[in-house]
Amino acid sequence: MVIFGATGDLTKRKLFPALYNLAKEKFLPENFAVVAVGRQEISNQDFRVKIKEDLKEFVGNSVDNKLIDWFEERTYYSGGDFGEAKTFKNLQKTLAEIAKNHGAPGNYFFYLATPPSLFAPITEKVCDIGLCSEENGWRRFVFEKPFGRDLESAKKLNEELAKILKESQIYRIDHYLGKETVQNILVFRFGNSIFEPIWNRNYIDHIQITVAEKLGVEARGGYYDTAGALRDMIPNHIFQLITLTAMEPPVSFEADAVRDEQAKILQAIQPFSSEDVLHKAVRGQYGAGKIDDKKFAAYRSEENVAPTSNTETYAALKLSIDNWRWANVPFYVRTGKSLPEKQTTIMIQFKRAPFMLFRDTPIERLTPNRLVIHIQPDEGITLHFGAKIPGPIVNMGAVDMDFNYRDHFGETVSTGYERLLYDCMTGDATLFQRADMVESSWKIVSPVLDVWEAIPARDFPNYEAGNWGPPEAAELLEDDGRNWKNEFD
Ligand code: BG6
Repeated sequence: MVIFGATGDLTKRKLFPALYNLAKEKFLPENFAVVAVGRQEISNQDFRVKIKEDLKEFVGNSVDNKLIDWFEERTYYSGGDFGEAKTFKNLQKTLAEIAKNHGAPGNYFFYLATPPSLFAPITEKVCDIGLCSEENGWRRFVFEKPFGRDLESAKKLNEELAKILKESQIYRIDHYLGKETVQNILVFRFGNSIFEPIWNRNYIDHIQITVAEKLGVEARGGYYDTAGALRDMIPNHIFQLITLTAMEPPVSFEADAVRDEQAKILQAIQPFSSEDVLHKAVRGQYGAGKIDDKKFAAYRSEENVAPTSNTETYAALKLSIDNWRWANVPFYVRTGKSLPEKQTTIMIQFKRAPFMLFRDTPIERLTPNRLVIHIQPDEGITLHFGAKIPGPIVNMGAVDMDFNYRDHFGETVSTGYERLLYDCMTGDATLFQRADMVESSWKIVSPVLDVWEAIPARDFPNYEAGNWGPPEAAELLEDDGRNWKNEFD
């Protein structure tokens, strides 16, 4: 494995701990080795010391020192500027050395944890040293998000990569697909017989997807101020959640069978007209506020953020999927920074039961059935339904049936990257994005981005840190006689 941009946070927080966890479960072969490539000049020895310390910090309490030593022996560092041919010549030498030391059979996967502007140039240089051709083993390239910043740039990137690689060599990663609870959506829907018959417009009133974060932009102001909440979260992470929730059953779990069905959903999401953007899209930016009694600075005073920034830190959309299953079932999605809690959920709200029998029960007690898929931080599923309140009078109250991963399967240590790295090594692209999917996703959100760019928000900041977004977000649902569900028991 060759990691470009290896001195960044992703490598120490996610990639190395994920490799460690894979090794622990015996999912890495004995002749595995990893080369970290970064701009800094660091000796192998110094890098190994650093990795050892990072692993101890990020793997948690139960580090196995023997395993850390195993890792150390097969970790290499190769430094240099990504723009220079010399860097790649050095890499070539390191790889030859590794082949000798570890008997590595010549399969390579390259992980580009770099800004997207470097994806094509780095790949080209890897090809220049003869490492793209699959004559002597497989060669795969993993690209971290963001994959482009709009439809045009994503298309350009796809075209550039298609000139030098086959689509089967390209793995566009979205770390949401590495989450167990996200993978479970398909098992839940298609491995059980009781949900699928009601999973459609006849029974479902609407669906809400919330990806709320308590944190602000922290040290990432430089990137975030050029991206914003919509670009950062919706065409990637949130669309993964939508496609898995809404897709038809695939004919098999083969990569393209699953991705074809996801792609159909992306094609069926109705594009926004400029008029729609005004009614079906909401943006917000946090001002100063308090979360858990701690003071939070306004977005505009964060590091590397312009003091007059027009970047949104909150976005909500009302989406419609124009197909037989989902006609007239709105999908409301929202995401934001500096919200009251970290919470990722998919809430499926079913249609109400007819009222007649419960004429005397107050309307707020007649809560409709809701199925909540908790993606994080609590991982599980809740079914919300009505039950008779004990007593001589027939009265109804809302109760929950809960499944919690931790209680049932115990605590599993995972960074969310283990499965993705493993799949890449075994050549299973099911959980990676195809070129057409990335482009369809950008196509859906482009009109919103265009209108927001053309008409700067006049009311920013329009929500206080620690609140659930701007008032317009609530109105988006209230206009349809609905409400966001912020808390789930
Ligand atoms: C990243 C975004 O892709 O996902 C971040 O760039 C965001 O802004 C993060 O914080 C959220 O990931 P998770 O796994 O914590 O929900």
